[in-house]
Amino acid sequence: MALGSPFGTFRPPNISPDPVDGIGRWTAVDLANALVGGVSPEHEHYYPAFPYTSFTGMTADDIRDLYAYLMTLPKISGRAPPHHPSILFRIRRFVGFWKLLFFREGQSEARLSGDPIHDRGAYLVESLSHCAECHSSRNVFGAIKPDIRFAGGVDPQGTGFVPNITQQNLGKWSERDIATMLKTGDTPDHGRVGSSMADVVTNTAVLPDSDRDAIARYIKALPAVQTPHP
Ligand code: HEC
Repeated sequence: MALGSPFGTFRPPNISPDPVDGIGRWTAVDLANALVGGVSPEHEHYYPAFPYTSFTGMTADDIRDLYAYLMTLPKISGRAPPHHPSILFRIRRFVGFWKLLFFREGQSEARLSGDPIHDRGAYLVESLSHCAECHSSRNVFGAIKPDIRFAGGVDPQGTGFVPNITQQNLGKWSERDIATMLKTGDTPDHGRVGSSMADVVTNTAVLPDSDRDAIARYIKALPAVQTPHP
């Protein structure tokens, strides 16, 4: 898959357990360093097109489970073609500088309320399903602008605008409407979500109801933020 962006074209690598082309030789600690620290087993910085800015909030237990699961998948050989970063990011060391400015290892953006359902939703939205990575606008260096997180943004693939999912736009959606959309793709105005959101729903559709309800509660609690002008 090629992920287009103003910062170049990035091609997610083979993460099957193939020992040569995939991650078959990785330990669980290697996986944790990639997800939480954005560094490879060779101590290279990953481009933030790999959303470790969100995964950094993952718990050690979940990373262990994820590792165990990944290692049961079929080994598939073959490598993705190389990335084509824009001139600014062509030097990997610049990514280290970027991380210094915009990345706080282990720090989640989750706002907690004390309600266990809401707070479970905070973890799922901010860390695992990384909704903000698509539903936000970015600065000239490609970092999410914190004050307009979730308020929508230009589609990184350059095809339109990803909608605002704060109460500014979703005021008429109930928690039930959000949970239903995450299960079936159906929106309350009798439409359906398309483009990359359809891929997201392929995954959220197989979550337990309790996790979709938790995501819905957290999204419904996001304060209204004005949609920025692209
Ligand atoms: C890979 C990028 C991506 C991710 C990740 C993503 N979304 Fe979306 N989302 C989109 C796009 C693009 C649309 C617009 C779809 C369309 O126009 O049909 C959308 C649409 C929506 C809508 C409908 C808004 C409206 O005005 O109709 C909601 C609600 C939504 N997303 C919530 C979420 C939640 C909650 C998550 C995290 C669980 C999430 N999205 C993760 C890309 C993404």
